Amino acid sequence: MLLSRGVRIACPSWRCVIVKPTVVVARRFQSTSTVVDASTSSTSNVESKKPYYLTTPIFYVNAAPHIGHLYTSVVADVLKRWQQFKGNEALLLTGTDEYGIKIQQAASRAGVDPKAFVDVGADTFKKLAAAANISYDRFMRTTDPDHREAVQHFWRVLRERDFITLKKHSGWYSVSDEAFYPESSVERVVHPPSGQVITVSKETGKTVEWMSEENYHFKLSAMGPELLNFYEANPDWLVPSQRYGELKAEVARGLEDLSISRPKERLAWGIPVPGDNSQSIYVWLDALINYITFAGYPWLPGTTSSPGKPQAWPADLQIIGKDIIRFHCIYWPAFLLAVGAQPPKQILSHAHWTMSKKKMSKSDGNVVDPFHAMERWGVDTMRFYMCMDGGIISDGDYSNQEVEDKYTHFLGNQVGSLVNRVCSKKYSIAEAIRTERDGVQVELDEDMGKLYKALRYGALEGVRERVEGRMARYDLAGALREVMTLVSETHKYIHLAALWQENKEGVRAYMLYPAAEALRISGMLLQPFMPEKMGQLLDILKVGENMRGWEEAAVGRDFGYGEGTAGTKERLFPKVYSEEQTQQAEAAKTKKASSD
Ligand SMILES: *[C@@H]1O[C@H](CO)[C@@H](O)[C@H](O)[C@H]1NC(C)=O
Repeated sequence: MLLSRGVRIACPSWRCVIVKPTVVVARRFQSTSTVVDASTSSTSNVESKKPYYLTTPIFYVNAAPHIGHLYTSVVADVLKRWQQFKGNEALLLTGTDEYGIKIQQAASRAGVDPKAFVDVGADTFKKLAAAANISYDRFMRTTDPDHREAVQHFWRVLRERDFITLKKHSGWYSVSDEAFYPESSVERVVHPPSGQVITVSKETGKTVEWMSEENYHFKLSAMGPELLNFYEANPDWLVPSQRYGELKAEVARGLEDLSISRPKERLAWGIPVPGDNSQSIYVWLDALINYITFAGYPWLPGTTSSPGKPQAWPADLQIIGKDIIRFHCIYWPAFLLAVGAQPPKQILSHAHWTMSKKKMSKSDGNVVDPFHAMERWGVDTMRFYMCMDGGIISDGDYSNQEVEDKYTHFLGNQVGSLVNRVCSKKYSIAEAIRTERDGVQVELDEDMGKLYKALRYGALEGVRERVEGRMARYDLAGALREVMTLVSETHKYIHLAALWQENKEGVRAYMLYPAAEALRISGMLLQPFMPEKMGQLLDILKVGENMRGWEEAAVGRDFGYGEGTAGTKERLFPKVYSEEQTQQAEAAKTKKASSD
């Protein structure tokens, strides 16, 4: 369930919640200088020919990749591939955030140069993206030269426009978040191990301390009205709407100026403030700018483009975790409006993952290693599982048992087995397609006629549009359920039609047609979620490489597949064995090898 809590409808064979469709309303953009009216759904982009541009957050290199990083990346990649499926050009940016005090400290503890330290971290996140088949267009590192240049230019523009002042700053500072928090954002709590009262950020729960220093400030306090105007003009800007309400209330309460530099003696590992070598640029200001570095910032005057760089800004969708809303939904649009640039068109904030309903934490030993999970279950299974069980509003709860159940029930018993049923050696898809192509009319008895109509004009008709409706609201689980419903209906159809029986010879090919189409179209709609497995499925069906897009994903759009598919031996999702069984099998193999 994604965007809103809607009506619950019982579903036949698996737990699910159907959300009452909410129509995507027009989004308008309004800033001091530009007004663009895009009265279209969030996924189309008629106002310009620019590619659909989406981003993940850049990941902090100091942390080991966890399941949350994988989730954000998978959601972004699925949405990118969905755009491409629809025939739109799409660009995905991901990367790593590499400056900051924590990194400086970690590198010094490890006795290495910070750059050498971040090289290792960046490499790990690149490996994660590769392992998860994330089709990014650039892996941005904040230490990249073009990014440093973009940040310094951005700073100069802020200064020219009089948005920067130098002042003494005192406030609640969290070393671990590298952020100052206003009084209203901190609270006193009892630290369980020590029993002492400590002050922590309400948002992140991290300890804060009172700190005083002289540094540069961004005049955020002056941006409140413009931000509120912007929010009002863009009612669907932050998804889900619950969090948008909280955000607006916070901004309406008033904003304090934001410290945007650190004394160099404290933060040496950072981008220097132009014209003042004694200060380094605050890491969050630096990090956020990466989204426009990709799009060629600094831009040619009066444009959002630069020669040789993709024409990408404004981003169509920026995907973040709910813990970084403040940075992306207050600071980021404020910075952009201050330099006269458009904020991104939409922000999708998702919830986190728990394990057995508890927050994942290393000290409790309940973290999931995403590399191990993908090795164990396969990339596409993990992508499917995370889209099915991940949460936008509420946290997803990670469970190996659930991954296995999803694999067995949905992938093995439903999608995989449908391939082998439709491609049975008892009948021929190619012949079925010919009956349709040649308009052969076959007389069906009442029961068979009903069955045929229910599949062809019920479950199958418009499935593409139903999936599209879900995707437009970023309801990935809902989109998957739409396809899974079609798959399970097709199984029922095959069972009831019993086309292998001798007395069905006359209607066999005719009745097989909608089942073959259901399989082909399901495989096509699932491509963004499971690119490799669905590629294999369409290969088994002999669907042409250039026949796998939106246009072809409807009944009767492809008469060229299905030749020689009868009796395929391929198993797309073979039975899985438990970890113990796998280990036993490996041990037996090793033993055999050593005794041979
Ligand atoms: C990644 O996706 C592509 C399709 O874009 C597919 O051909 C390839 O097999 C996938 N690779 C892995 C490792 O899953």
